[in-house]
Amino acid sequence: MTTSDLTSTHPSVPDAALEAYLDATHEQRLESYKEFLRIPSISALSEHAADCRAAATWLADALAGAGAEHVEVSESTGHPVVYADWLHAEGAPTVVVYGHYDVQPVDPLDLWTSPPFEPVIVGDRMLGRGAADDKGQVHLHVVALEGLLKTRGSLPVNVKYVFEGDEEFESAHLDTWLEANRGRLAADVAVISDTGFFDGNLPAITVSLRGICYIQIDVEGTALDLHSGQFGGAVENPANALAQIIAALKGPDGRIRVPGFYDDVVPLGDAERAALAELPFDEEAYRESLGLPALAGEVGFTTLERRGTRPTLDVNGIWGGFQGEGSKTIIPAHAHAKVSCRLVADQDPDRIFERLEAYIAEVAPPGVRTTVRKLGTGRPSLMPIDHPATQAAARALAATFGRDPVFIREGGSIPVGASFESRLGLPVVLLGFTPPDDNAHAPNESMLLANYEGGIRAIARMWSELAAIATAKSPGSDGTR
Ligand code: BES
Ligand code: MN
Ligand code: MN
Repeated sequence: MTTSDLTSTHPSVPDAALEAYLDATHEQRLESYKEFLRIPSISALSEHAADCRAAATWLADALAGAGAEHVEVSESTGHPVVYADWLHAEGAPTVVVYGHYDVQPVDPLDLWTSPPFEPVIVGDRMLGRGAADDKGQVHLHVVALEGLLKTRGSLPVNVKYVFEGDEEFESAHLDTWLEANRGRLAADVAVISDTGFFDGNLPAITVSLRGICYIQIDVEGTALDLHSGQFGGAVENPANALAQIIAALKGPDGRIRVPGFYDDVVPLGDAERAALAELPFDEEAYRESLGLPALAGEVGFTTLERRGTRPTLDVNGIWGGFQGEGSKTIIPAHAHAKVSCRLVADQDPDRIFERLEAYIAEVAPPGVRTTVRKLGTGRPSLMPIDHPATQAAARALAATFGRDPVFIREGGSIPVGASFESRLGLPVVLLGFTPPDDNAHAPNESMLLANYEGGIRAIARMWSELAAIATAKSPGSDGTR
């Protein structure tokens, strides 16, 4: 086959040969998916470093088996990055595909209905840590590659796979790796499969991700705990001081009180507000599903606006003093909190850190020593809805799942999204398949097998759609791209 007939041999309508191949390999694909999930690649826990490497190696082997070339377990300053490519679609666009093979910790273990690293199919779902976030979505890319190469011998686009192992750890090492590998990452678009549907079967394209600024506040008093009767009233209590600091961070109106915090927030346009309001979202059912007496958040914004378009400040953990049974009368020597802010375009996590640090120093009571440390950051990103690659993804989803996707703003973060845009100059398309009820990060994480299977087909279609828009725009038509 020559490259000139690539588009005509890659229809975006259902592909009988691919379907037949996927039918014939159904069992082995699920077994391979399970094998991947069995590797406990928890990036945040150093005792799992070898498992992260094992997952990287497993993935590299799977990519090579699928027909990818230049497969490499590439060292980074963190867990290895798996790189592979297939670059024989001459003249066609090049796509960087991103996903992550690392997973979240599994505690609390007793709430899992089956062990997190012993994946099982329960009903219509694959159950296990990483089933949805993000091993399942990485795996479906490998299957799509294999299916296309086995049935057609080629892809309609060039692909460069970048699968990292530190995403659940703020992707702390990926920027350095991207810079070092810039030469081989030249592309036209990045496709990230690490986001979700709006709910069970309503496909969605995420058009923004929040950033993050994660800090730890340490409040130190005396070297040892004090008797709270002998000393109480005469000294500052670090736990009280910490509570005072935290209380100063946010007002009862849900507004963050750090001066300048909102300065760089891009305001929500009327059209976008209207689009959000049209999403099929039942606030009362949402509240009910969470088992909460009421929803809460910043005044003047709806729940969907609060979740996707506004920055936040949340205490993620707080500790200090006596936690045992009964009572112990002490003034604790120290107290601590982990606090994170989700950020939106165009907030800069480093600037937000400086502002937080300065404000906390200002509100901290003088009788204790308070320090603020930066634990991690990630930048927010905002993608253009009308980008041709985004529209191509919308068509691929609609054709596969039989419903037009909705465009959503995601509250979660994928730090590499902003890096692809700013460091590699690539438009980013977030094409993911996991709805919120997949329990990502929680016990009993699972992925709907229908979404996994649909994901494979949607990726195959996406490649055809991307090739088709490039062909339509290549010289001889309007000459632009
Ligand atoms: N896949 C998620 C991001 C995400 C969350 C997408 C919800 C769609 C819906 C990603 O793996 C993740 O968990 N990111 C972390 C990043 C953090 C560690 C910097 C997050 O959002 O907490
Ligand atoms: Mn993820
Ligand atoms: Mn995650």
